[in-house]
Amino acid sequence: MKKILIYLFSNLTYTRLLHSIQVANFAEIIAYNNNVDTSKAYLAGILHDCAKCMSNSQLINFQKTYKFKKFNKCTNLLHSFVGSIIAKDKLEIQDQDVLNSIKYHTQGRKNMSVCEKIIFVSDYIAHKQNKGEIIKLLTSATHNLNITFFNVLMNKIQYILKKHIYLFPQIVDTWNWYIENNKYNKNC
Ligand SMILES: [Fe+2]
Ligand SMILES: [Fe+2]
Repeated sequence: MKKILIYLFSNLTYTRLLHSIQVANFAEIIAYNNNVDTSKAYLAGILHDCAKCMSNSQLINFQKTYKFKKFNKCTNLLHSFVGSIIAKDKLEIQDQDVLNSIKYHTQGRKNMSVCEKIIFVSDYIAHKQNKGEIIKLLTSATHNLNITFFNVLMNKIQYILKKHIYLFPQIVDTWNWYIENNKYNKNC
């Protein structure tokens, strides 16, 4: 953990660091109530934005070096893919679930693991400013993570549509997969 904290303190702004700690704390609480290893959820939470403060050119260099898909219209989304590479190659994280939780924290994907959903939801909650709303969402996620995840996914898409900004195909694929497989209900 020392190596990770040194990396985060050196590469994130103070605000981003506080956000990451908040996501980790929320993830730990939700994990505890969903029978997920709390230290794994904390680790994924604290690392989820480890590439967020990199410049666009640094992120694009990573994309070219590692040859993953292009994000022409959404370069800010590169940070989740680059973050999982940094976590693996630089910070020596081997747990694939942690790496996937970082990689898919913005757009989701089909058939997400419980830890992936926890980070997706915790990140969303940490961006809320209203204490009452935070408590409501945290309570909801601890009692029914799947329904909360689906509501967060829906709210994220609605926000993008209202703002008239580019809707990245991967979040559409995530949405369609959960709709097609009826995975938004209690029994999934
Ligand atoms: Fe992020
Ligand atoms: Fe974040």
